[in-house]
Amino acid sequence: MQKVIYPGSFDPLTFGHLDIIERLSRQFDEVVVLISWSSQKKYILDIIERKTAVTKVCQKFSNVRVDAFEGLLVEYVKKNNINMIAKGLRNARDYEYEMTMDHMNKTLFPDVETLYLISRPELSFISSTLVKEIASLGGDLKKFVPSEVEAYIKKKDKK
Ligand code: PNS
Repeated sequence: MQKVIYPGSFDPLTFGHLDIIERLSRQFDEVVVLISWSSQKKYILDIIERKTAVTKVCQKFSNVRVDAFEGLLVEYVKKNNINMIAKGLRNARDYEYEMTMDHMNKTLFPDVETLYLISRPELSFISSTLVKEIASLGGDLKKFVPSEVEAYIKKKDKK
């Protein structure tokens, strides 16, 4: 049974993330999409809201499970006996950021391996950070995020 963890902030989940999830679901028996926390990010949706939104979008994949975790990724990996992490790479900036995290994770837990999937060119410009900016200025999100996620952000705006 080949399992993989796809961790991220998913604030919000975009079509770029969804493409990586779909590709992983074709290659692995089980995919755990892990809603995680990064000290470098400011969130619009809390961890439970993100988990709910991502779970709705991932219902169509029978081998994809969504979980949320506030702690070290390597601790989750160890506890759940999954030593393969997957990440998407859009550009050289992602590569540099991911390489540093990879070194940190490997130093903390040498058994962990990370697999990098290059984003599709037509999706590689989409970023959660810019989606948040567009959302805060009332722009249309349809081309960047699934409708379930868009609805969630709109609901949040009205609160
Ligand atoms: O979508 P993001 O924000 O690029 O995802 C980054 C994330 C959440 C995968 C990363 O920050 C992470 O693994 N966070 C969990 C806490 C942790 O292990 N931090 C040390 C990373 S070296």
